[in-house]
Amino acid sequence: MLENKNIAIFASGNGSNAENIIKYFENSTTGKVKTVLCNIPNAHVLIRANNLGVTSTVFSRDEFYMSDKIIDILQLEKIDLIVLAGFLWLVPENIIKPYRNKIINIHPALLPNYGGKGMYGNNIHKAVIADGNKESGITVHYVNEKYDDGDIIFQAKCKISDTDTPETLAQKIHALEYEYFPKIIESVLMKIQ
Ligand code: GAR
Repeated sequence: MLENKNIAIFASGNGSNAENIIKYFENSTTGKVKTVLCNIPNAHVLIRANNLGVTSTVFSRDEFYMSDKIIDILQLEKIDLIVLAGFLWLVPENIIKPYRNKIINIHPALLPNYGGKGMYGNNIHKAVIADGNKESGITVHYVNEKYDDGDIIFQAKCKISDTDTPETLAQKIHALEYEYFPKIIESVLMKIQ
């Protein structure tokens, strides 16, 4: 029988995906969200995690890039998979190396388009609409040393109508994220030895 795998979620903001993932795995025998790691002290994701009984840690830029604080937590918690859910910093090499192919990110656009530094949340939806695109979507991909660059695991699309705004497009994208991201995480977990 497969053992229940441990997930750590990295998030920077609202945390609606984090909440959806935590709930999805609450009664799962595949995985469990052990902890939330966050780089913004007053991010709403911290309240969501607390309400759902999941521990969280806030870390500074120096702690992330210049110390072993985060890798030490990941090892202490025996984390098998790192999930970036609205996390906006580049992951440093001391975490990428031991977790190669065990870090995945969700990006709210159809990569390789609209990726890279500064491309997050509503910035993306504004650019996608301004360019006259008729569709957008979500991409789940492995994380490497560059922004939004690792192998693509899954994409799903939505249509953009003439009346869509960045806000209504964000709603469509979030709906796709809530539907698919936990299932993709589950399928990745099942491949981890
Ligand atoms: C999500 O749409 C996620 O795809 C995006 O941030 C949002 C976070 O929402 N991530 C990026 O833009 C990463 N480049 P949430 O905090 O409510 O889950």
